[in-house]
Amino acid sequence: MIRLTDSMSSHCYVLHKVNGTAMLDNINKIVLKNLFPRKKLSAYDAISEAQKIAYAPLIFQAVRTMRDLGILAQLEKAKDNGVTPGGIADALDISLYGVETLLESGLSCGVVEMADDGDSFVLSKVGYFLLHDPMTRINMDYNHYICYLGMYNLDEAIKTQKPAGLRVFGKKWATLYQALPHLPDTIKNSWYAFDHFYSDSAYPDVLPIIFKNQPGTMLDIGANVGKFSILAAQYDQNIQITMVDLHDQLQNAIKNVNDEALDQRIHSLMLDLLDEKSTFPKEMDVYWLSQLLSCFGKDEIISILMRIVDVMGENSTVYILETCWDRQQHESAAYSLINTSLYFTAMASGNSKMYHSKDLIACCETAGLRLINIFDHLGICHTLFECKKNNS
Ligand SMILES: C[S@@+](CC[C@H](N)C(=O)[O-])C[C@H]1O[C@@H](n2cnc3c(N)ncnc32)[C@H](O)[C@@H]1O
Repeated sequence: MIRLTDSMSSHCYVLHKVNGTAMLDNINKIVLKNLFPRKKLSAYDAISEAQKIAYAPLIFQAVRTMRDLGILAQLEKAKDNGVTPGGIADALDISLYGVETLLESGLSCGVVEMADDGDSFVLSKVGYFLLHDPMTRINMDYNHYICYLGMYNLDEAIKTQKPAGLRVFGKKWATLYQALPHLPDTIKNSWYAFDHFYSDSAYPDVLPIIFKNQPGTMLDIGANVGKFSILAAQYDQNIQITMVDLHDQLQNAIKNVNDEALDQRIHSLMLDLLDEKSTFPKEMDVYWLSQLLSCFGKDEIISILMRIVDVMGENSTVYILETCWDRQQHESAAYSLINTSLYFTAMASGNSKMYHSKDLIACCETAGLRLINIFDHLGICHTLFECKKNNS
C-alpha cells in the first residue's frame, strides 16, 4: 500500500513495503512524469538538432568568452537600439574581427539578435539569463573550469572506469576529492560554488524534517566545508555533530567550525570511505549523507551503507539527500543533472553519477535499510530518503 500525503511544504510519500520491486514500480508510476518523451521530428529538424550538438563545445566557449570579455554586458547596456560590432570593439578594446566572430556565433545560437537597423546587435532573453542568472553562471563556470579540458578524455574514462580527465590538473590523483583542496583558487571556487549552490538551497527544507524527533547526535558524512554541520548546530543548540571527510578536505571544515565558535559541539573524524575496513561511530541518532552517494559507484554505495547499517541502533535514522534526475519537475533540471554525470565519469571518480532514484533505493535495500519516507522537491532539485535499519 502506498499513501500519499503533503507535508512540510514538500511532497511526502509514505511507503508501506509489500514486496520490493513492485513497490518501486508503483512509486514511479504515481510520482514521476516522463521528462523525455519520444519526439516525432522531421528529418530536416533532426539534422539541424544534430548540428547543434556537433558544434556545442565551440558555442559554449564563444558564449562564455562573450560573457567574460564583457560583450554581453555591452549589449545589455545598449538596450533595444543595440550596438554595432565596432561600438563594442572600441568600448572593450578588442579587435573588430574578434567581436564580429563572437557576435555571429551568438546570433546562430540565439544569445544575441539583430536590431531593427540590420547593423546593430541586441541581447536576447537567453543572453540575459546567461549574464544574470546565478545558476546559469555557476553551471557555466563549473563546466569551464572543472570539466572542459578533461572532457576530452571521456572515452578513456568510460572504457577504464577511471576519471581520465583528472590528469589535466597535473598530479596523479585517485579522485577529484583528493585533488580539490589543492587546486588553484579559480578552479576550486567554481567547484565549491557549484556544489553548494544546490545543497544550500535544500538545507532549510531538510532541517525541520531531520530535527522533528529531536536527535542528540549526528554524523555528517562527506561534510565538505562544514556548511550543513554549522547550520544544524545553529538550528538546534543541543545537537552534537561529527563531520566525516578526507583529511585535507576536513581542514577547511574544521577552520570554518572554529570561526563560528562551534568546536564544542562539532567534532571531526578523518576517514576514507573507500577503505572498506573503515567503520563509523555507533548508534548515532542521525547519519546524514548529503550529495555524497553520487560520488561513488553502486558497489561502493552499498559498502558505505552496509557499514552504516552495522553500527545503527534502534533509534538511528539515515537521511540521504540526493539530486535524482528522474524526480525532477522540469526537463531542464533533469537535463542538467544527467549531464553532470559526465563530470563524475571523466573528472571525479570514473564510476559515479547522478542516479535514478530506483538505483539508490535498490542500493539502500541491498545494504539492509528500510525506506520509510521520500520527500521530493526540496530546495532547487533535491530528494530526501529517510531510512531505518531493516530488522526483518
Ligand atoms: C559532493 S560533496 C558533498 C558535500 C556536502 N555534503 C554537501 O551537501 O554539499 C562530497 C563530499 O564527500 C567527500 N568525499 C568524497 N570521497 C570521499 C572519500 N573517499 N572519503 C571521505 N569523504 C569523501 C568529499 O571530500 C566531499 O566533501
